[in-house]
Amino acid sequence: MGHGFFVALEGIDGSGTTTQALLLADRLECLGVRVVRTREPGGTSLGERLRELLLDPRAAIDARTEVLLYAAARAQHVAEVIAPALSQGAVVVSDRYLASSLAYQGYGRGLGPELVWQANKLAVSTCLPDLTLYLDLAPEEALRRRRDRGDAPDRIELCGDAFQARVRQGYLSLAASQGDAAQVVSAARDRDSVAADLWASVTACWSGAPQTTGDG
Ligand code: TYD
Repeated sequence: MGHGFFVALEGIDGSGTTTQALLLADRLECLGVRVVRTREPGGTSLGERLRELLLDPRAAIDARTEVLLYAAARAQHVAEVIAPALSQGAVVVSDRYLASSLAYQGYGRGLGPELVWQANKLAVSTCLPDLTLYLDLAPEEALRRRRDRGDAPDRIELCGDAFQARVRQGYLSLAASQGDAAQVVSAARDRDSVAADLWASVTACWSGAPQTTGDG
């Protein structure tokens, strides 16, 4: 879609998508690339309000309703942020996107990826990532990192390790079906090693990537 380049970062809770989205966007900006860094659920004022609802541990949300709320936030995100940025030639770096719904609601909740995809068609239209980077990490290690960080678990994180394990397997199946548009990177290493691998994937996949020498 458009002339820009759309990268999404994915992974279970605690795998480091937020940190890596920041490092990737910074690196691109340092090279003079116009970057829009954003996140899901969120990225717009409506999306951030839906995010509060979706992550509130006190909210009781049916699994199908959950799919539709994430999709609603996504539709607004595409219309207001992602599609305009891409049509202006920017690189969009999104901390989570469609694959989060396929993995969390499709595999984690057990609704199946096909049903979740059907519900999301209206939200994404033709706006699919050029590259999805999957940060792969064992649920036990991800939980340890979340505990070290010390923030209170949100509604999704309260679903437990077995849920996160299903989400992880879901991500791996999705990645396997996406060919060149997907890259799985082990997140069980220090953040700079992970960032270097992600950077290599981006420059390999994006023909507009600035030419650089070394791993900078
Ligand atoms: P996350 O971005 O991981 O926030 P933080 O880093 O502050 O914990 O939180 C978003 C949560 O929402 C995460 O558990 C994944 C979940 N999620 C879905 O279940 N479906 C979706 O479509 C998206 C975008 C996120």
